[in-house]
Amino acid sequence: MLFKQQALLRQKLFVLGSLAIGSLLYLVARVGSLDRLQPLCPIDGRFGPRSQDEIPLRALQFKRGLLHEFRKGNATKEQIRLHNLVQQLPKAIIIGVRKGGTRALLEMLNLHPAVVKASQEIHFFDNDENYAKGIEWYRKKMPFSYPHQITIEKSPAYFITEEVPERIYKMNSSIKLLIIVREPTTRAISDYTQVLEGKERKNKTYYKFEKLAIDPNTCEVNTKYKAVRTSIYTKHLERWLKYFPVEQFHIVDGDRLITEPLPELQLVEKFLNLPPRISQYNLYFNATRGFYCLRFNIVFNKCLAGSKGRIHPEVDTSVITKLRKFFHPFNQKFYQITGRTFNWP
Ligand code: A3P
Repeated sequence: MLFKQQALLRQKLFVLGSLAIGSLLYLVARVGSLDRLQPLCPIDGRFGPRSQDEIPLRALQFKRGLLHEFRKGNATKEQIRLHNLVQQLPKAIIIGVRKGGTRALLEMLNLHPAVVKASQEIHFFDNDENYAKGIEWYRKKMPFSYPHQITIEKSPAYFITEEVPERIYKMNSSIKLLIIVREPTTRAISDYTQVLEGKERKNKTYYKFEKLAIDPNTCEVNTKYKAVRTSIYTKHLERWLKYFPVEQFHIVDGDRLITEPLPELQLVEKFLNLPPRISQYNLYFNATRGFYCLRFNIVFNKCLAGSKGRIHPEVDTSVITKLRKFFHPFNQKFYQITGRTFNWP
């Protein structure tokens, strides 16, 4: 009898204890996110006339709460009406470069309360079939947001696809364009590593990087190899500059985004005319991953998927030297055009 009573008491204590811990965690999470939100100021009217006072605070704070559900397309008609939610065309696009850190950039910008990301790569402007579906189709692919927020999408194929600059220009000639770059040879090897992994998954064999990057007949850099061509940043940028002035682009240092993300993100906030809201609190280094991960609040953290940050195969140093020498003049031109200089060899 006594034993039964003790067990009952233990059970009750356990339930009460769990409830207390749960409530405490909830309160701490709320305070954490409230703290982040307070100074959100109107964004000089650029991204919509709605004042901050009208925004339901709770929904805005919880990037993993109510708004998160809306983004996943779960909003009911009632919720859409109640919160005045809209699906907006992007005000900024991360147009590339593939393997530059485009996913990390998008996810990190999404930490900002005034930014809403389109989670998937939409491939509207580079895919003829999608483009033929029209701009309304594209808009409907966007997440729900409050009118004062800005939507950002990323599709790295945009940077290298011939037709894309004109198509984006036709949609919005004043759109802001983000390009994240890495040291070109490293980026090319990263590009190769991704393709290699895909082949391996299908149990297929693949060439070594050296064989693809260097033309065996001339022993020169193989400019027909896509991973090499993509890294000639200036060639692609020049096509874009036929439509957009250079001021409409912001270049992000993808190598620095890996080692020291905050200053890079602060430059992007400035470029997008957003109040500075991403802080060191939102980014923490995860030694196991070897990368910075994201902290939305004390409860919700996330790292990028394992497909980001692959181990690169070892590449012959003479090939690396040859590639670096090849990219050098293109890099110089890229610095000259963009006004952003890197310490690339
Ligand atoms: P590697 O896999 O070569 O290391 P993209 O998203 O454009 O495909 O770019 C992928 C690259 O993002 C990765 O290349 C990785 O180095 C880089 N990256 C930058 N910040 C990262 C982060 N916080 N977590 C994981 N990868 C990150």
